[in-house]
Amino acid sequence: MSQPASREQWSSRLGFTLAAVGSAVGLGNMWRFSYLTAENGGAAFVLLYVGFTLLIGLPVLLAELALGRGSGRSPIQALMHFGGPRWMPLGGLFVAAGFLILAYYSVIAGWTARYTVEAIFVGVPADPAAHFGEISSGAQAIGWHLLFMATVVVIVAGGVRAGIERVSLVLMPLLFALVCALAIYAATLDGASEGYRFYLEVDFDKLRSLDVLRQAAGQAFFSLSLGMGAMLTYASYLSRQEHLPNESVIVAFADFGVAFVAGLAVFPLIFALGLQTQVGESTVGALFITLPGAFAELGGAGRIVAFVFFAALLVGALTSAISLLEVVVSSAIDSFGWSRKVAAVVLGLAIALLGIPPAMDTDILGWMDTVAGNLFLVFGGLMLSLFVGWRMPDAMAQVTPGAEGVRWFGLWLWLLRIPVPLALAVVLWQGLVQLVAGS
Ligand code: PHE
Repeated sequence: MSQPASREQWSSRLGFTLAAVGSAVGLGNMWRFSYLTAENGGAAFVLLYVGFTLLIGLPVLLAELALGRGSGRSPIQALMHFGGPRWMPLGGLFVAAGFLILAYYSVIAGWTARYTVEAIFVGVPADPAAHFGEISSGAQAIGWHLLFMATVVVIVAGGVRAGIERVSLVLMPLLFALVCALAIYAATLDGASEGYRFYLEVDFDKLRSLDVLRQAAGQAFFSLSLGMGAMLTYASYLSRQEHLPNESVIVAFADFGVAFVAGLAVFPLIFALGLQTQVGESTVGALFITLPGAFAELGGAGRIVAFVFFAALLVGALTSAISLLEVVVSSAIDSFGWSRKVAAVVLGLAIALLGIPPAMDTDILGWMDTVAGNLFLVFGGLMLSLFVGWRMPDAMAQVTPGAEGVRWFGLWLWLLRIPVPLALAVVLWQGLVQLVAGS
């Protein structure tokens, strides 16, 4: 099983872990997680999301790691390597998902960058809803989106070690610290307990709807960066000494941990200030309207809290965006023999252009997010579990190196063969029904 000789590798195990956690932790953990939790009734949704992360997310994550490290190739080539040319379209779909997601992701990251800078130089907007309306679409949104994309391109062009790994080693610990600081601060607010109650007290009635199930599954996939080859690509730069099951568990727990702690900051803030009714009203804008509203009411401290919050969000967005572009770039390097720099610039530019429609209209953005999260990633996860469960010649041989003593691999393969694809097929079907029904 020869790997392309010139392929880069992570310089350390920690480098991979932090880059993978960096991919997972992003807007999904703070922006998407909080609005979905708010919309779907709080703790019940969180519980489902944890269940999906463990029972479906973890096995698929390990499948991606096995495919990536086992082949030492980017998604299209990795699938062809183990499955033959018929699997090429699936790899193509992953690359398409990278285009689609990064295009609108970068627009949201652009808003975040702007809020971060404004917290320092301008302060918190007096009328957050009006402010969001002004900045969320149009020429300014495009400008910030392009600026963000340019940053991502520069880092990815720098390479696996000098670009991605170096940035992750600095930014991820910073993000953890910022999110923890926010949660501690939120605990000191009067009225925080209302927020905790909403967030942590489970109302089991809410668990019955298939729609909540679908949203929780989509969120688990989006948040873990699964179903489009991001984790696969990062694992392709990993050596055969590493313990893949351990890595998958660390990534999943870190991802859930950050989402959970971010919730411990967001919900007390919103409830302490009586803003809970506003959250469900605007989905994509929830975090960008409600939270600045809360910050404004905190007086002088509000500006600092706003800065810390948006800076953390921006860091998360950046490290995730890097992994999205890396899927596309590494595919062009492997398939067309492009140089990394050319691939990063050309493809980054193409994605930046694709980001213009969502930067013009938040409805388009919301639609792209739904299609990506509920259809593309779920379909990708379904196919990946079938591929590794049934088609890949010897999946065990790819996870075992570095993890010889692990006994539950049999369970892993069994989960990938039947329960995971079944559950994902139901979720996908639900997603399609919802899309056709127009909601
Ligand atoms: N996991 C990232 C987040 O939570 C988003 C992402 C999805 C990144 C798919 C890469 C691939 O923000």
